[in-house]
Amino acid sequence: MNLKKLFIPLKEGKVLVTSALPYANGSIHLGHLVEYIQTDIYVRFLKSSGVDAIYCCADDTHGTPIDIKASQLNIRPEEIIKKYHEEHISDFSRFLIHFDSYYTTNSEDNQKLSVLFFNKAKEAGLIYTKEIELAYCEHCRRFLPDRYVKGRCPVCGAEDQYGDVCEKCHSTYTPKDLIDPYCVICGNTPVMKKSRHYFFRLSALSEKLREWISSNEFIQKEVKNHVLGWIEKGLEDWCISRDEPYFGFKIPGEDHKYFYVWLDAPIGYISSTLNYCRSHNCSFEDYWKGGSSSIIHFIGKDIMYFHLLFWPAMLMTAGFNLPKSVVVHGFLTVNKEKMSKSRGTFLTAKEFSSLVSPELLRFYYAANLTSGIDDIDLDLKDFTARVNNELVSNLANFCYRVLSFTSKNFEGVVLDTKDYNKEFQKSVLGVAGEVVDKYASLEFRQAVQGILRLSSMGNQLLQESEPWKGIKRGGEGRKKAHLDMSLAVNLVRILSKLIYPVMPGFSLKLGGQLAMANDVKLMSGIDFSFSGKINNAEVIYEKIEEVKLMEHIERNEKEQTGEPAKKPGEKLKEKPDDEEHSAGSVSGEGFSSLNLVVARIDEAGDHPNADRLYVLDIDLGGETRRLVAGLKKYYSKEELKGRKIVVVENMKRAVLRGIESQGMLLAGDDGDNVILLNPGDAQPGERVFVEGVEGEPAEEVTIDLILGLKMSVRGGVAEWKGKPLRTAGGVVKAEGLKDGALIR
Ligand code: 2FM
Ligand code: ZN
Repeated sequence: MNLKKLFIPLKEGKVLVTSALPYANGSIHLGHLVEYIQTDIYVRFLKSSGVDAIYCCADDTHGTPIDIKASQLNIRPEEIIKKYHEEHISDFSRFLIHFDSYYTTNSEDNQKLSVLFFNKAKEAGLIYTKEIELAYCEHCRRFLPDRYVKGRCPVCGAEDQYGDVCEKCHSTYTPKDLIDPYCVICGNTPVMKKSRHYFFRLSALSEKLREWISSNEFIQKEVKNHVLGWIEKGLEDWCISRDEPYFGFKIPGEDHKYFYVWLDAPIGYISSTLNYCRSHNCSFEDYWKGGSSSIIHFIGKDIMYFHLLFWPAMLMTAGFNLPKSVVVHGFLTVNKEKMSKSRGTFLTAKEFSSLVSPELLRFYYAANLTSGIDDIDLDLKDFTARVNNELVSNLANFCYRVLSFTSKNFEGVVLDTKDYNKEFQKSVLGVAGEVVDKYASLEFRQAVQGILRLSSMGNQLLQESEPWKGIKRGGEGRKKAHLDMSLAVNLVRILSKLIYPVMPGFSLKLGGQLAMANDVKLMSGIDFSFSGKINNAEVIYEKIEEVKLMEHIERNEKEQTGEPAKKPGEKLKEKPDDEEHSAGSVSGEGFSSLNLVVARIDEAGDHPNADRLYVLDIDLGGETRRLVAGLKKYYSKEELKGRKIVVVENMKRAVLRGIESQGMLLAGDDGDNVILLNPGDAQPGERVFVEGVEGEPAEEVTIDLILGLKMSVRGGVAEWKGKPLRTAGGVVKAEGLKDGALIR
């Protein structure tokens, strides 16, 4: 695919580029980043090529999961979406993903536009209502979306399958067909209940959609085939309403019904444009109405149906511009497998950025991205190898070598090389031109390959011309060495421009060393015209170690499965240091945010979906809660029943294999044994504390905080910073464990 074919006209008119809006109830992870990095590279490329492009996105804030999460945490959904809005913005900026507008779908703009779209569809006779039967949980008092009902597959009998599709035999069905269905939230059996819903007559637009897709020359071929196949099979009308409780926009004229999140989510693209225009002297209509603009959506292949059928149907009905292209990418696999929490390969953006420089992920993704929809793999060994061998040893080293050599030996002076070694210049410019074409056609892998080829050519130039020898010879030898280095500096300048879309941070630093910071951002001026003086050279990237990433993944994996966090024995090395054992007053930092309470295990049962886990009903002194715990290897159910334990009452709730764990119990772990903390005679509900530490429980605490506290065992007693954990009646014991065992 070349640029002229992909997105025309590139230089004329405004271009709006979007990425799919991330849900506002979870963190950005490595899978998300494929798309945001791909889009950001493309937008940076467009802008640096002189295209009038903007990049808009927003948080996708509505829907059932957010509503459920809020009611479980007993807070308003607005609080959740606010927290994630801030988190998303800071994660994106860590990865140098720059949005011209990052908005929210929970805005008045978006609400008004949603109503407008709905009314337009109504006027066009495309909306009707109909009564349908849905799964309803009388205990949770809500209708259950397909993913919130599980049971046995009616076709093959596999246990614990979702209400829409069996992952074992791939049959599709409705929740009503499931055998022994249960509500994923509370475990009770749902009933079938009737409700009236709004439908969008998608079927009526089949022909128009078929025409649009078939005549669109910019949509990837494989995508086209999929979508035309769906149309061929016959499109079903689309249910666009949801019953309360729901977090979203109310449907006009209804008190208890809301727009389905997928109706207002893509409208978020428009309201985010509107948000941009409010402060940039333009109107969203410049992008969304009339013929002079281009809209390009980047999405993952799981949401093609929405973006290539529902969304264009809504746009054509409301009289808005259709996207010029919808660019679809594949999923991310890590070490060739689906990212998974239990394999430890589910990394958030923040976790990853604490291990290595985020920009390196941009490099790696770019080095693997094509314009196709195949999955891309993050192979952690390959990641380290490519960063070290390609980026650092080849590209970054070449740049540093050239700039530092020039500074040291020629006082940073770069000679005019316009007429010097034209042959070298020609081959460089040939490859550089290809790199630009590859960017334009979204073939980033080839663009990166071209850039690396250029730095290899540079390294070869140095190898062959041996300027260090010319310097020693002096006279003409020195003059030639200076010209060769000046040529090489010009190549560094070209490289800094070409790498900008992928690694803007690296590129701008190089630009600073070349005394051309802003010029770096331009794809124009890719030539050998630079002469003058450069600034001092500095090393920008050094080789990275592989272990850090692997260690993190292993630790993650162990945490998820409830196994010891380190290999047996290793834990003992992690003794709290002396300072932590010193007597005297302790600051309550971290510890005071815990709410530690004594509880009694009333019931212990097997987790239906996990071999290693138990589900425990515990009594916190009048209040009953459910915990999911990885204790099967260490305790039988009988040993647990009736036992008293210590629980982190304000532990962030987590759904573990379909069951919510409402707290966390504490146990010591010395690598060989895991033993529950024993609060002695204390009664359920009693507080566990450390003397001298004022309790100021946080609303919720995370596992990271608890692990970071390094509570440990000494002499069979649980302690923190050398002081025993205690109840009013005595110390909390952890007998049978070696000193230094960690508590978690
Ligand atoms: O699949 C998702 O993550 C959705 N939040 C994407 C929405 S894209 C757009 F339509 F809003
Ligand atoms: Zn329920």
